[in-house]
Amino acid sequence: MKKVLVLHGVNLNMLGTRDQRQYGRANLEEIDGELQELGASLGLSVETFQSNHEGKLVEKIHQGRAADFRAVIINAGAWTHYSYAIRDALELLDIPIVEVHLSNIYAREDFRRHSVLAPVSRGQICGFGKHSYMLALRAVAELLQTAETA
Ligand code: DQA
Repeated sequence: MKKVLVLHGVNLNMLGTRDQRQYGRANLEEIDGELQELGASLGLSVETFQSNHEGKLVEKIHQGRAADFRAVIINAGAWTHYSYAIRDALELLDIPIVEVHLSNIYAREDFRRHSVLAPVSRGQICGFGKHSYMLALRAVAELLQTAETA
């Protein structure tokens, strides 16, 4: 099965406890479980990883180069808005990257409207709660299939 890496950044381990109006009720374990289930139905093997340490996320991205991942889905949390380190690490990968947010980052505070990851991402999905991740996984399945048949 093709491998897809799903990365969750800072504070996302607190889902379920954080502002539920923005982020919904599901916790990270539930989201990861749903991603794995959906992945299996799409013929994808989903590995998930969360860290509150920027360097750990960067190292996971570095390891992704050798680990034969076919795509990365990333919700970097607040790092989205200012981490050039994560941006540069993602740029090292030559596979599709999909940026995800639970909330609609364009309908919130000004600082959330800018993503430093967007320029190195194939696309962005935001505003659909946990479904943002599921839509991203479906997009990845389409992309990988199209790449194969092209
Ligand atoms: C978030 C949006 C970010 O602005 C915020 O810092 C988060 C979560 C989202 O999923 O909506 O931690 O990435």
